Amino acid sequence: MSLVAVATLEELTDEPLGVEIPDSDLEIMIVRIGDEIFAIEDECSHGHVRLSEGDLDIGRCAIECYLHGSMFDLRTGAALNPPAVQPVPVYPCVIEGDQILVDIDNPITNQEN
Ligand code: FES
Repeated sequence: MSLVAVATLEELTDEPLGVEIPDSDLEIMIVRIGDEIFAIEDECSHGHVRLSEGDLDIGRCAIECYLHGSMFDLRTGAALNPPAVQPVPVYPCVIEGDQILVDIDNPITNQEN
């Protein structure tokens, strides 16, 4: 398990936060909904655009890709509607103090809706 500090709680607003992971090609979107924090790869599985630039759907716990409108479940990474069909990896995250830590070695992918 490689827990990487990606942001502080204070840095998280109501908007998705895109974070580059140092020493890797990985970019992760961090978002808080209520008391829960989610970490999902910051790239749509349909095209090379950042999910963090899309719109949050708090009711569905999902992020909408701004380019073609596919929604991704923040809990599972599953694509909820076309044109995207492939899931986006999600990552376990924990809070330590005021730091948000993401386990970048253990992404979860799930194709179920
Ligand atoms: S690039 Fe995201 S749905 Fe097409």
